[in-house]
Amino acid sequence: MSNPNEKIILALDLDDLEQLEKIVCPLQGELKWVKIGLQLFTKYGPSVVTRFANLGFSVFLDLKLHDIPNTVSSAVRSLKDLPIGMLTIHTCGGSEMIQAAVESAEKTNPNLLILGVTVLTSMDQVALNEVGVDKTPETQVSDLAKIAIDSNLKGLVCSPLEVSKLRKMLGTEPFLVTPGIRPSGADFQDQKRIMTPAQAIETGSSFIVVGRPILMASNPLVAFRSIASEINV
Ligand code: C5P
Repeated sequence: MSNPNEKIILALDLDDLEQLEKIVCPLQGELKWVKIGLQLFTKYGPSVVTRFANLGFSVFLDLKLHDIPNTVSSAVRSLKDLPIGMLTIHTCGGSEMIQAAVESAEKTNPNLLILGVTVLTSMDQVALNEVGVDKTPETQVSDLAKIAIDSNLKGLVCSPLEVSKLRKMLGTEPFLVTPGIRPSGADFQDQKRIMTPAQAIETGSSFIVVGRPILMASNPLVAFRSIASEINV
């Protein structure tokens, strides 16, 4: 993957489709990946995936599936006719669930990259303790990452601040996809533990997820190009 533009995933976190199209159409031919999450998928259904794929984008479907193995496997199979290149599942569903998802994708959509979410960045030590996890968030991330990779998952979603440790632990092969990105000088909004695009790529992220710094920019194309040039060094 030599083109740095292909490392940027634009999170489509608005529910006004016309507004989103106004933002993404000028990026056609430069931006490759868009991320469709629960907000758009629950409002518009699978057709929203096709809509952005038909505009020429590769779609990362961020559904964070978490259920019994049979249900997750069936959900992955149900997605087989949708043009998606990446899909998220929760690694805390355990190795059996993860393997069921991977095996289902191998049978129905072999090019699909399934990514495991470890600990949501909204969860701190207190929140983990509340749900019975008696470990630090950092240890829980490493433990879940190991389970995920041992269960044949090829990639993870994580904070850019976790990348260096995960790279040491897992090597260069797994795809590490990192949100929590803010270009230097940008508004942090609700993101607290952030890195700049260049720092995130330098530390070993395979892809960076960027939402508001592009969506809310007065000129999204300029904002996108500036991020792309920042990582193209
Ligand atoms: O607007 P912003 O760049 O903060 O958007 C980041 C995107 O990454 C959002 O879609 C958000 O839900 C997602 N995300 C995140 N932190 C995580 C996992 C996903 O910000 N740990």
